[in-house]
Amino acid sequence: RTRVTVPDFLAAKEAGRKLAVLTAYDYPWAALLDQAGVDAILVGDTLGMVVQGRDTTLPVTLDHMIYHGEMVVRATRSALVIVDLPFMSYQVSPRQAKRSAGRVLKETGASAVKLEGGVNQAGTIEALANSDIPVMAHVGMRPQSIRRLGKMSSIQRDREQLIADAKAAADAGAFSIVLELIPQDIAAQITAEIDIPTIGIGAGPNCDGQVLVTPDMLGQTHGFKPKFVKHYADLHQVATDAVRQYVDDVHTGAFPADEHTHH
Ligand code: KIV
Ligand code: NA
Repeated sequence: RTRVTVPDFLAAKEAGRKLAVLTAYDYPWAALLDQAGVDAILVGDTLGMVVQGRDTTLPVTLDHMIYHGEMVVRATRSALVIVDLPFMSYQVSPRQAKRSAGRVLKETGASAVKLEGGVNQAGTIEALANSDIPVMAHVGMRPQSIRRLGKMSSIQRDREQLIADAKAAADAGAFSIVLELIPQDIAAQITAEIDIPTIGIGAGPNCDGQVLVTPDMLGQTHGFKPKFVKHYADLHQVATDAVRQYVDDVHTGAFPADEHTHH
């Protein structure tokens, strides 16, 4: 397989082919996802929570994103790789956004960047698109706005604003758009009214594709189960059982056995 391109992404919408997207932050998981057939991998700034153990995405830096993005690109052959622009790496100005996104593409080899915003970031999306930097927008619940919103994970219901945001992003030249935590009928309307693929998370079945945070869908982020997450595995339990068994085996002398031993 050759690598999925930005035009392939657009063609998928045209052809009615749904896009399966997951997040990855390191080499082994990116390689696994790539070989398992995902269409795209998002190196999300959720790495602040799921890798760095922080409460929000806000402390994540551009250097962190580049460090992780490079590993993910190196691990993959087929998937389109999109890297999040972290908080305050693009909000200052379109110039700052071009510098940040340019570093991401040059230093990681990724094909595209993602930023949070619609109407409020239209000028920046246009500046990136005009610089040949493919950009994915992200509207609805925007985790980088947590200090204004007060809390994460509130469903966004302002239909006029959501539609205006999606249309502004599409008109500015975004190649795709994440819809996070919005009612399914609004997501369906946006998906019908814009030409670029919508990738939903907590936005219902009518989007052009879906994205989940991989450690959430694999049951690694123990105890985190919002309505929109489906647990496809319980890796937390599997790994905990394995580690407990190992500890027990070492303590009792059951490991290493003869078959693990050089003579
Ligand atoms: O950072 C991230 O993982 C994301 C997805 C949840 C869309 O932005
Ligand atoms: Na993100």
